Formats: sequence, structure tokens, C-alpha cells
Amino acid sequence: EVWNPNGKYRVVSTKSMPGTRWINLLIQQDCRLEICTEKKTILSVDDILALIGDKCDGVIGQLTEDWGETLFSALKKAGGTAFSNMAVGYNNVDVDAATKHGIAVGNTPGVLTETTAELAASLSLSAARRIVEADEFMRGGLYEGWLPHLFVGNLLKGQTVGVIGAGRIGSAYARMMVEGFKMNLIYYDLYQATRLEKFVTAYGQFLKASGEQPVTWKRAQSMEEVLQNADVISLHPILDKTTYHLVNKERLAMMKKEAILVNCSRGPVVDEVALVEHLKENPMFRVALDVFEDEPYMKPGLADMKNAIVVPHIASASKWTREGMATLAALNVLGKIKRYPIWSDPNR
Ligand code: DGY
Repeated sequence: EVWNPNGKYRVVSTKSMPGTRWINLLIQQDCRLEICTEKKTILSVDDILALIGDKCDGVIGQLTEDWGETLFSALKKAGGTAFSNMAVGYNNVDVDAATKHGIAVGNTPGVLTETTAELAASLSLSAARRIVEADEFMRGGLYEGWLPHLFVGNLLKGQTVGVIGAGRIGSAYARMMVEGFKMNLIYYDLYQATRLEKFVTAYGQFLKASGEQPVTWKRAQSMEEVLQNADVISLHPILDKTTYHLVNKERLAMMKKEAILVNCSRGPVVDEVALVEHLKENPMFRVALDVFEDEPYMKPGLADMKNAIVVPHIASASKWTREGMATLAALNVLGKIKRYPIWSDPNR
């Protein structure tokens, strides 16, 4: 699909994206926009090489694509200077390779913070109250009437929520769980967690002033401390070498037998094979996953586990957010190729 065929700058988008604002932005700024209409979900490096062709100023790509040396050297040869990943995570991008070829890399933080945190909160609640199992039970025609033991789950109020990775999304999730459900909080981050600390301090003062029952919070000294003490644990780190299999067999074993683990970050943060074993051995342990180690696949056995909720990487999937991500992705490419001040280019 081609927009503004006579535009001066050739910009390729490897996928169609929600909304029209991103398209308008590009065509109003003299770009010829080519949107790939290939039906297969995940494009290979060869598919993308063909899209880049001989002349390409910038590409908007997706987290399912492998942006490394091959693609960045081809983009450079085609005269390109910008690659924009339509995602906040950029573990699919070799930034060193891009830098080596003089290509600026953009991502789309901010617009997906609340949407992603809302999904993590929804998954936490769904796991706590066994919503998916109960829905299947109902649709399966198994409901014969109210029973005292039917789908008894956990009350979140007064339990402890553990957050690993207290950046934008982790902090927003913590805020939702503490403020919304009066959970106590324990969190761990390698870096400062100013956003979260400001919230908990202000919220503590509010509870005190309004005479409400206080909640407790603590910055943990180690990740293990969170795993051992929390009832619901949500993972929000970036994926890199240091966070690969952060939750492994040993760390799963440290968690409470009835804990809930939520992952809306990246699949490889959890050792999924170890997780399946853990779920089998601990039927009261529950997990809710938005991301998987080898997307789009799940490790054998995971889909059979009643104590697992699985959804297809939809944490940022609200209309407002996806349109915002598309707009930011377009602005990132434009900022670089047209040298707008929004791009923090040291050579500008
Ligand atoms: C991201 O942005 O990194 C999410 O995984 C998809 O929105």
C-alpha cells in the first residue's frame, strides 16, 4: 500500500498500524509511505531486506522482527538514517549495530504505561478470582447451583503485591494495586524508583489524613525478598542478558505455594519449562502470562494447566495506546530524517 507516491523521503512500515494520524503525519511531511501488506504475521530478515530495497530513508518496524547487523547495514546502504520500533521494549533491536551504521533507533514509551499496567492488574485479579476457570465451567454447562466451595480464590485486600522492575509500567501497576485494592507493597529495582516512592509517600499521607487503615510498603534489598514475601508478583524488567530466566526453578521454589505470578514484560524473563513443572507440582500456585519464551508458541504442557491464564501479548492493546504508539513511531522516523528538534540528535 503506497501513500503519497511522489514524496521525497521513502519510509517503509513493515505492518499496517492502528489509526490514520501516523499516516497523515508522514505524508504531510513529504514522505512516500509504503505499508507492507504481506499476510504472514512475522516477517523474516529476507522479507524486510526486500522491503528496504535500494532507497529507503527510514523504517517503522515491529517487535517480532530481528533488527540486527544484516538489516541495519542494508538500511544504511539504502541511504536510511532511522529505525523506529513500534514498542517500548527493544530487545529485538541490536542498538550497537544500528549505531555503527549511523542509524538512530526510536521506541514508543509512555503511551502504553497505563494500558500495560491495566492488563497486569486484570491478570492479577483474574488469577486471584479464577475468572477464566469459572468462565470455562459455566460455558461447559457444569454449573448446578451456588456452593460454598465453588471457585474460592484470594481476597487481594491486605495481601502483599510484589513488583520486580519499578519503572514506568511497574510503578503504575503498583499504584493500581495499592490504591485500588489496598494491597501492601514490596518492590525491587536495581535503579532508583523515584516515581513509585513519590506515590507511596503521598498515598501514605492521604490514608493517614483521611483516617483510613494504612498499607505498608518496602523497597526490598533483593529480588528473592520479593519472591519470598509477596502473594501476587508482577514482573516488569526489560529483557537483556541479566534478566534472561530471572525467574528460574530455584526462584520459583522460593515463592509461596499459593502465590500468583504475572508476566507482561518479555517471555524469556521466566524459564517457561521450569514454570510448567512448578505449576504441575503446585496446583495452588497460579500464573497469568501475556508473553512467552518462544512466541507465538507455548512450552509443552502450559496450555493444559488449569492454574495458568494465557493471553497473546495484548498488554498495550487499547485503541488509544496503539494509535499513540503508531504516532510516536512515525514521529521518531520523521524527527530523524527531517532533523526536527524532537529527535535528540547530537549532530543536529
Ligand atoms: C512493548 O511495547 O514492548 C510491548 O510488548 C508491546 O506493546
